[in-house]
Amino acid sequence: MQITIALTKGRILKETLPLLAAAGLEPAEDIAKSRKLIFPTNQENVRLLILRGSDVPTYVQHGAADMGVAGKDNLLEHDDSNIYEPLDLNIARCRLMTAGIKGAPLPSGRIKVATKFVQSAKRYYAAQGRQADIIKLYGAMELAPLMDLADEIVDIVDTGNTLKANGLEARDEIADISSRLIVNKASMKMKYGPINALIEQLAEAVRARSGE
Ligand code: PRP
Repeated sequence: MQITIALTKGRILKETLPLLAAAGLEPAEDIAKSRKLIFPTNQENVRLLILRGSDVPTYVQHGAADMGVAGKDNLLEHDDSNIYEPLDLNIARCRLMTAGIKGAPLPSGRIKVATKFVQSAKRYYAAQGRQADIIKLYGAMELAPLMDLADEIVDIVDTGNTLKANGLEARDEIADISSRLIVNKASMKMKYGPINALIEQLAEAVRARSGE
């Protein structure tokens, strides 16, 4: 029974590979050094896909991948009707926050908010009872308040260095973010044995890593 696992390059991959290795799963070649997008592993029936982070939930939602590792920030933007989220991998931890120009008060009434995280921003400002026009951006959100494109941004904050370097301040926390293991619901049923075994091994690896 073939199991396909969707991953992303970069920081999440760096932190995911040791967890997979602890669960006995290793790519057959160095992913970081290859331009390939599908990788066999040391287990004949398991292969890895390398996708954009925001595409991981899409592949798992449609069953094009059985499982995946996705940031909660991306999951919050996504229709999760076909997706289980059985395990917090506790890696790539950061916060989804609002931010704006340091010391600048928010205008009263309708505000403009620039973000990649449109759904999270909509839900957040609606819950605050604030009218917000959401402007979708794909990166460098920090620039938007400086250029008067937006009054606030909604973005990932880790160290806070990016905000600080651009004269911005973090304001309200919207969500705690970390990478989650996700599983397609039909795959979970059809391939329960191998998938559940992998979930349990990964859970054990996460526990071991956090020193519990
Ligand atoms: C994220 C985020 C900020 C930065 C925050 O970008 O969009 O720009 O990290 O980190 P800090 O608080 O430690 O400065 P990322 O590098 O993940 O890439 P992105 O531009 O693709 O979002």
